[in-house]
Parts: sequence; C-alpha cells; structure tokens
Amino acid sequence: MKTRQQFTSQDIMELTLSQSHTETCRLYIQTFGCQMNEYDSHCVLRSLISRGYCITSHITQADVIFLNTCCVREKAEQKAFSFLGRLRRLKERRPSLRIIVAGCLAQQLGTGLLARFDHVDLVVGTRGIPSVSHLAEEVRRTTHRMAYLPEDDPECHYDTFPETIFNSPVASPVTIMQGCDNFCTYCIVPFVRGRERSRPSEMILQEIRKLVDGGAREVLLLGQNVNSYGSGLKEVIGFPELLRQIHTIPNLLRIRFTTSHPKDLNEDLIRCFADLPKLCKHLHLPFQAGSDRVLKRMNRGYTSSEYHEKIQKLREVCPDIGLSSDVMVGFPGETEEDFQETVRLLESVQFDTLFSFRYSDRPGTKSSQFPDKVDESIKARRLKELQGVQDAITRRKYLAEQGKVKEVLVEGPSKASNGQMTGRTHQNRIVNFDGPSNLIGKAVDVRIVTAFSHSLRGDLLPAYLKGSAPSTENSKEASCSGK
Ligand code: SAH
Ligand code: SF4
Ligand code: F3S
Repeated sequence: MKTRQQFTSQDIMELTLSQSHTETCRLYIQTFGCQMNEYDSHCVLRSLISRGYCITSHITQADVIFLNTCCVREKAEQKAFSFLGRLRRLKERRPSLRIIVAGCLAQQLGTGLLARFDHVDLVVGTRGIPSVSHLAEEVRRTTHRMAYLPEDDPECHYDTFPETIFNSPVASPVTIMQGCDNFCTYCIVPFVRGRERSRPSEMILQEIRKLVDGGAREVLLLGQNVNSYGSGLKEVIGFPELLRQIHTIPNLLRIRFTTSHPKDLNEDLIRCFADLPKLCKHLHLPFQAGSDRVLKRMNRGYTSSEYHEKIQKLREVCPDIGLSSDVMVGFPGETEEDFQETVRLLESVQFDTLFSFRYSDRPGTKSSQFPDKVDESIKARRLKELQGVQDAITRRKYLAEQGKVKEVLVEGPSKASNGQMTGRTHQNRIVNFDGPSNLIGKAVDVRIVTAFSHSLRGDLLPAYLKGSAPSTENSKEASCSGK
C-alpha cells in the first residue's frame, strides 16, 4: 500500500541507530505493506534491540535481515519476491547471514517460501511476530531452516508490544485490533490476518501512556476495521468509548485512526469528531467503488447513497474534516457505466487524498473465481482517468490552503528541504516550514504560503506557539461544531 502516514523502516533505523548498545549482531529491516506491518516491524526491532542487536542501514553488512511482507495485490507479492531474489547472492557471499521472512505473504505461502527460496532461514506467520526475537536467536545458533505459523486463536491477541521503550516518535502507531471478519470478496486480508481480535483497552491505554512518556504526542490507532473494536472482548467497550478513554491521557495532543469501514461508521463515532478536540479532523473511509452493483459483488455492505449520507453527516458535525479513501478499478464485471459511477462519486465527495488501485486477483478469494475479468489495458486506462480527476481535486484543495493558518504538530526535520521542520495538520497534510528543532513534539501555528502537489510550505507564527499565546481561534480555521 502507498504511504499515508507511515513510519518507514528508514525512520526506525534513524530512531534507533543511537540507541543500540552492542555491535554483536547487525539487523537490517525491510517492510512492505500497510501500517500494521510497520508497527509489527517496529515491535520486532524493539525486541531485538533489547536482546543486544544493533541496526544497520547497509544491507551488505547485516548479520540478520528481517523482511516483513504484504500480499494484498500481486504487485506487493512481486516486490517481496524480487527483494528475496536479490538476497540470494548476499547469502552466497556470507553463509552466516540469516534471512527471516514474516508478514502476510509469509503466512500465505508458509513452507512454500522455504522451498522456493533456499536462502531463507525462517518464515514467520502474522501471528508469530511476538516470537521473532527468540526464533531469530535459534536460527543464528543453528543451520536449521524453519517455518513458524501459529494457528488463529480467537482467545489470543498476539501482543507484540515489548516492555522496553526507548524514545518514541512524535506520531506513534498503536495496533488496537488484528484481523478482519468482513470477507470483502476481493480481499486476502481475512485469510492471512485471521479473525478479528481486539486488544483489551487497559493494554492499549498502558501502551499509549508509555509512548507518551517516551515523547509521543500523537497516536495512530491501527486495525483493519477499527469501528468494530471491542467485539469479542470480555469488557463491554466499543471504539468511540476507547477513543474517549484515550482522550483523557495527559500530554497526548492528537489521536488518529485507520481504517474505518463505512458500514460500521455509526452516529456515536461521528459525534466524537465534534466532542473530542484531540481527535484529528481527518477520516480515511474507503469506498472501493461507486456502483451499487459492484459494491454488492464486493460484499461491502453499503450502497453509494448510504456512503454519501455518512459523508454528509460527518461534514455537518465537522465542516473542515479532511477525507481520504481507497478505491479500485477493474473489479470483475465492472462495466464502463459502473466505472463512471465511481468517477461521479469522486467528483461529488471531493476527497482530499485518494489511494487508487487496479483490481488484482488474490488466490483463495471469492472474486478470483468470478467470470468477466476486466482486461489489464482497460484497468490501466480507467486508473489513469480516475487519477486525473483526483489530481485536479487534490490540487484545488491544496491551493485553497494558501493564506490559512493551520495547527501543525511538529514531527522532526523535513526530509525534503534542508533546515526545515515538518509536521502535519489535523487533516493529515504535510507542512514544511523554517523553525528550530526545539519545536519537535509541539503544536504550532503556521501560515500556509505555498501549495505543492503533496505538501504545503508555510511560515511559523511565533506568537501562536501553543501554550504561549493568547487565543488564536478567531484567526484560525473553523473548529468543529457539534450539532
Ligand atoms: N481494511 C481496509 C483495507 C485494507 S487493504 C479497508 O477495508 O478499508 C487496503 C486497500 O487495498 C483496500 O481498501 C482496497 O482498496 C485495496 N485492495 C484490497 N484487496 C485488493 C485487491 N485484490 N486488488 C486491488 N486492490 C485491493
Ligand atoms: Fe479486506 Fe474488506 Fe477486511 Fe478491509 S474490510 S481488510 S477490504 S476484507
Ligand atoms: Fe498487506 Fe497484510 Fe497489510 S496483506 S495491506 S500487509 S494486512
């Protein structure tokens, strides 16, 4: 999946380079896939560091390579295969190198990966992440090759978060649930991530408190369908209540979450955007298709007009909410008219950002058996048309930000431009500006000067530095109004 608000392996490396305490075993981490994989890789990293490993950004110097994989589309799978292919020569040159493959593709192929790539030492399924650190030690000691693929156990929440906490990134991800029970007909996730399992609320709150103690100011709550958080837990709790509890944590400035399923987006959650000031005014709400006929064949559980109604309610409660979405083109049987309905939905909703994909057959899914597959060249043409429409919308929306004052949570030095700081607005837009590094972790006000295609540049308003300024509400963006 493309990056939304990602915690890259590079970030992880930079974060921990200074924290390694021995040079005994050099670890290289490569993560493909969604934020859940990023989170899992980060947990693996923390647990291996606490065992004395150190991180390297030079793959040729690594003693252990940890690859976290995705298989949501064929392209993601190919990426993992080609990465693994490139490792073969490395292993030939250094037989002591140990290669660990984890994540969704590892879960799907299991021992098949060991058979196909004889230089892979360890395959770990999605529910085996908490065991990676001790298994890594085992494969380092021996020449045994193994696959560890624990069964799906509804009683177990596969907690991956290690006790040891170093400093946390300003915006830290926290997994609140695993798995998915929705079985959209195109999707491999329920097969590789298993049934939905929510983590007990106290465990989540404790993790967030620790992250905040370590410097986090924003948390990104992760799950395949966060709206169904709580089902199956002994305690009676839903996602809105979890948000309210997280909201009380001192020194936490912002809360985000992803991903929400439109069918489960209820009034209570919509109200949270008005009632909880720390909840960022941004929602990622994948719609997948604009045609009811296609939505039904996808087993999405809502119609296009129901989707529109939810967007309308959200905007009534929070007029300046930023919206992003996922969509795919070329689902089996998608006609030109179906596709045009998708384009119309885009035009009427006016998303800030869109992640768009070509449908890709996944083994074992229902839709892989559907007839009327759409030709790749048609998919390519539809994707291009769709992206053209969205690019114009995104451009307009970014330009409209010029001149406005936005609250930015400063995350660190900007990667793009030297000497600048970077952060994001509530609506999840990246803003770069000149400013000192002691602003990291603080929410500041920035006047937007220039709009680029995927980021904004602004000027820091020193008088508006949070906590040192009089009320700025009049000069700022409209805040959410409850109805
Ligand atoms: N749980 C999330 C989605 C996770 S997968 C949700 O329901 O929103 C991320 C995105 O990948 C999906 O939203 C969908 O747009 C896309 N996707 C999933 N399976 C796909 C497939 N077989 N082909 C193309 N895109 C796919
Ligand atoms: Fe896949 Fe649908 Fe579950 Fe999302 S909700 S992970 S698209 S099955
Ligand atoms: Fe990919 Fe697995 Fe995430 S298939 S999108 S890494 S849940």
